[in-house]
Amino acid sequence: MATQAQAAPAQATPFELLGGHPVIERIVERFYDLMEQDPAYVELRALHAPDLAPMHRSLAMFLAAWAGGPRDWFEENPGKCMMSAHKGMSINPAVAGQWAEAMQRAIAECGPEDEKLGAEMADMLGRMARSMGR
Ligand code: HEM
Repeated sequence: MATQAQAAPAQATPFELLGGHPVIERIVERFYDLMEQDPAYVELRALHAPDLAPMHRSLAMFLAAWAGGPRDWFEENPGKCMMSAHKGMSINPAVAGQWAEAMQRAIAECGPEDEKLGAEMADMLGRMARSMGR
């Protein structure tokens, strides 16, 4: 009779299920292209620094870690809380909605093959963004 619990099978992380760095890179690139090019996101763009390259790197690293992938962003930003970091940014509900919508479009266009997983990711990130807008 087996007295010990069987070792649980290794579970794939959301990061792995999404397709890892290449898919996250594609999403982030499309997200900042939309922010740069679509007038619907002009207010959101105006809040960011002129050079989006550092943000591109940060957001891609954050999303990788958030999804259970390599934790470089957390190691480079010890103790940093994403919600607190956005508290001083005067984000109103309209701008928060722009972030959520641009991210949802980027994921739909460039996200994982598994559309359900992509929709879940967009939903989670949209909730996070909207909770930053007051
Ligand atoms: C709600 C709407 C949001 C707005 C308006 C916004 C805006 C900003 C701004 C202005 C910065 C500073 C960078 C710069 O000046 O270029 C920033 C940083 C950042 N934001 Fe957001 N953000 C939003 C939501 C989010 C969400 C939902 C996430 C994550 C899921 C996120 C992830 C980041 C990251 C990773 C950084 C860089 C922080 C660092 O690495 O030090 N943002 N955001």
